[in-house]
Amino acid sequence: MRSARLLKFATTALCFVAISAPTAVWGQDKDKKKDDGDPVECRIIYVPTPETVVKKMLDMAKVTKDDLVYDLGCGDGRICCMAARDYGAKSVGVDIDPARIKDCLESMKKYKVTKDQVDIRQGDALKVKDLERATVIMFYMLPEFMEKLEPQVLKRLKPGTRLVAHDFKFPNLIPDATVEFKGPEREHTLYMWTIKEKKE
Ligand SMILES: C[S@@+](CC[C@H](N)C(=O)[O-])C[C@H]1O[C@@H](n2cnc3c(N)ncnc32)[C@H](O)[C@@H]1O
Repeated sequence: MRSARLLKFATTALCFVAISAPTAVWGQDKDKKKDDGDPVECRIIYVPTPETVVKKMLDMAKVTKDDLVYDLGCGDGRICCMAARDYGAKSVGVDIDPARIKDCLESMKKYKVTKDQVDIRQGDALKVKDLERATVIMFYMLPEFMEKLEPQVLKRLKPGTRLVAHDFKFPNLIPDATVEFKGPEREHTLYMWTIKEKKE
């Protein structure tokens, strides 16, 4: 199942690279070495979520003007921009790739949102200093990332925070809802969790 999803993601990424190479990244850093000297493959994969699927994700989280929506690995920032423009929320987008940050600035113009509404940051989404402020967090990230982030989700987020993940879920958290949603080209699986009160 997991490998089927990865295949779907990889196929989508490759199609995307083929269709619009300038904005897609499937990078390899062959100069990097592991501790044992073997080269490591550093993958930065960019596949945008179609707008109809973004809308479904924001609807699942019941985003309102009172929300602060984070998108960890924000790509071109479309989720942040739509949260701001269509739902009146504030949002924060984090991406590690400078090319995506440029895309985000273009998206902010396209969606006509301001820096007061959408805060775009370049950096590692596993090291977000103020993640506790989020009331909603969106993800379209590979399983390795979800696994690494999971402990922070459990420790740092406040009760009531909603999380929505596209195609890849947290390995140990049982979703409150799982939705199969038909996008323009394929079925997307969307998962939602709400952070519970911590037991004393
Ligand atoms: C599949 S794209 C999703 C883009 C966007 N969230 C969407 O759904 O349209 C994943 C994005 O995560 C970024 N990314 C990968 N690892 C990251 C990390 N550790 N920190 C921040 N961004 C990362 C990539 O550069 C890429 O833009």
